Amino acid sequence: MSSAPSVMLFERIDFMKKDIRRAVIAGNWKMNKTRPEAETLITDLKPLAENAGCEVVICVPFTNLETAVRLTAGTNIKVGAQNCHFAKSGAYTGEISADMLKEVGVEYVVLGHSERRQYFGETDETVNKRTKAALEAGLKPIVCVGELLWERESGITEEVISRQIKLDFAGISADELMNCIIAYEPVWAIGTGKTATADQAEEVCAFIRNVLAGLYGTDVAEKITIQYGGSMNAGNAAELLSKTNVDGGLIGGASLKAPDFATIINAATNG
Ligand code: PGA
Repeated sequence: MSSAPSVMLFERIDFMKKDIRRAVIAGNWKMNKTRPEAETLITDLKPLAENAGCEVVICVPFTNLETAVRLTAGTNIKVGAQNCHFAKSGAYTGEISADMLKEVGVEYVVLGHSERRQYFGETDETVNKRTKAALEAGLKPIVCVGELLWERESGITEEVISRQIKLDFAGISADELMNCIIAYEPVWAIGTGKTATADQAEEVCAFIRNVLAGLYGTDVAEKITIQYGGSMNAGNAAELLSKTNVDGGLIGGASLKAPDFATIINAATNG
């Protein structure tokens, strides 16, 4: 983290317990895999993931959701989507509602991914509305937050993250928060091969837990799963996942290869 002085004035809590939270390893396939390719990847992954000691989720493109739900039925692999709209239905060409996802058998939905924020104009306000809609439909949102490189270099990582958490979860109750996962994804680490160091990941994940403690109380904060995402791979996952406040991963590129994704799952199982 930057050497600039912190602007957050609250007393930091050192959250030491890790095993009260379930590790969740989620693959974010992004805009990859045709239907036959998805079938092959899921078929390859199933035996590799069957003894996982963590929750395993694959967040696939909309066109692969039905395939993924069908092929993972009766297994320990859960299916997620990569976005949903906040309206129940209506004139929103190209969008998909939370109810539509639920109907297909989806359990999770990634919201506020930096690629959505960067390329599709999503804001904390729309992420907040989407999160509420997802919760109302009975989905489990994986809400992504993270700073840009120049924000980190300007020493405002904590301000950025704290603002995102406060706005993205505005009006969301503690009970609802328990159904959410937070993914800390420094934007400079996504798809760049530049992973945050395990210490950097731990520092911000611990900070997020502190922000949650301020909003919801310590008991709630210590139960929320916080993932790290950004160039997590088979080689660096074990170290990242061994950190006290890193409860799992949101994995892009490395989730597209079954053996690599399985290695990360095993790292979470052992972590
Ligand atoms: P990456 O993507 O693992 O390819 O960096 C992570 C993400 O964007 O969720």
